[in-house]
Amino acid sequence: MAKETLTIIDNRTGKSYEIPITHGTIPAMKLREIKVSEDDFGLMSYDPAYQNTASTISRITYIDGERGILEYRGYPIEELAEHSTFLEVAWLLLNGELPTKEELESFQREVTLHTMVHENMREFIEGFRYDAHPMGILISTIAALSTFYPEAKNVSDPANRRLQIIRLIAKVPTLAAYAYRHRRGLPIVYPDNDLSYAGNFLNMMFKMTELKYKPNPVVERALDVLFILHADHEQNCSTSTMRIVGSSKADPYSALAAAAAALSGPLHGGANEQVIHMLRQIGSKDRIPEFIKKVKAGETKLMGFGHRVYKNYDPRAKVIKRLAYEVFDAVGKNPLIDIAVEVERIALEDDYFIKRKLYPNVDFYSGLIYEAMGIPLDMMTVLFAIGRTPGWLAQWEEMHNDPEQKIARPRQVYLGPARRPFVPIGERKKG
Ligand code: SDX
Repeated sequence: MAKETLTIIDNRTGKSYEIPITHGTIPAMKLREIKVSEDDFGLMSYDPAYQNTASTISRITYIDGERGILEYRGYPIEELAEHSTFLEVAWLLLNGELPTKEELESFQREVTLHTMVHENMREFIEGFRYDAHPMGILISTIAALSTFYPEAKNVSDPANRRLQIIRLIAKVPTLAAYAYRHRRGLPIVYPDNDLSYAGNFLNMMFKMTELKYKPNPVVERALDVLFILHADHEQNCSTSTMRIVGSSKADPYSALAAAAAALSGPLHGGANEQVIHMLRQIGSKDRIPEFIKKVKAGETKLMGFGHRVYKNYDPRAKVIKRLAYEVFDAVGKNPLIDIAVEVERIALEDDYFIKRKLYPNVDFYSGLIYEAMGIPLDMMTVLFAIGRTPGWLAQWEEMHNDPEQKIARPRQVYLGPARRPFVPIGERKKG
């Protein structure tokens, strides 16, 4: 029977080393045993952007990039999008199993009762410029929440961690909606405990002078599904940030603010907003070939396409594309969808994209739905953050329960100047 090991022969010394293979990986610390002399530090692996490094063992989300598969705790994303609700999926991510009816009702009630934020937070948001980007407000206000709950620093207490998790899942939509209302110069709308999670978010975003906001049921369900589709995605950039900041035992508000900051980048969660800018810039179907030419010349990227893991169609994009037409039937079609569908058709037939296995990802169609719902561009990454909050927290919780985890501190290869004496300023020559 073949041995699950790697035999490495160091040609510098002729020595051979047997390294165990577990779950398709080798323990990196074993490389440190490969030395040329006793005082040698030993080998490391060099992996910029961690393209081939497993940073943790996880039991939350499984992705098969080649086959375009995404499962939360073993449940296919397509089935969860079809049959589940966002808070039910949040429970699944956090606890590992789908909740019973009683568990879900109690969880929903707990989240509902934590949706309010301290009035100081409203005053804090009023201090931002009228045109402050809502993502900047969200990142800042999530971090500021840590000052209202100093006990959150006690991350070693599971009950305390659970309370902060509930608070964050409940309050992130409130902060997001407050940011939007500030941006629009509108008075904030307080949570309505009679509404669903998605319905209440729409209420806090769009309620005007009516006594009680009534969400459009198609939009409410579509938003809940979009939150499900964004809920987790294993060790992506923002989740890794959540884990790294959390590994120093920082409180979850500071860690989640850092995760949201990572998400805001245009290569990550900021892509949904960039896709709409791109489609508007293309403007019409007949200008697509000219745009594709620029992409292939390396002058720009086809935003919403490509993925570090998926080398096939992102399963979330398939669901979102279908969902878009349901929303358009209810609220009116976003004309940019025709350009998007044509961009996809042309790209998927073009060797440049085929060779690089570039397919639509979660961000390619999501912005079209948000825009049709009346969500402005600068709120699109904010909605991604709302959806990803339970995923960030489930991964953070898993890290705290993992005996193998400790403070994250990668190594480096130093190729800078060798040791040299200080030079007095009068003796320095222009560099
Ligand atoms: C998300 O990790 C996650 O799970 C993230 C996410 C999640 O749920 O958390 O799925 C959410 O962030 C989705 C991705 C959203 N970002 C975008 O849509 C921005 C556009 N996409 C690219 O920037 C890119 O595809 C990335 C960042 C998503 C992935 O980049 P990689 O894995 O580092 O790949 P790469 O940049 O090395 O590209 C490989 C080749 C290059 O060409 P060559 O140098 O080999 O000639 O593909 C090209 C790239 O130029 N390429 C693209 C492209 N993406 C990659 N060319 C044109 N348009 C693109 N979008």
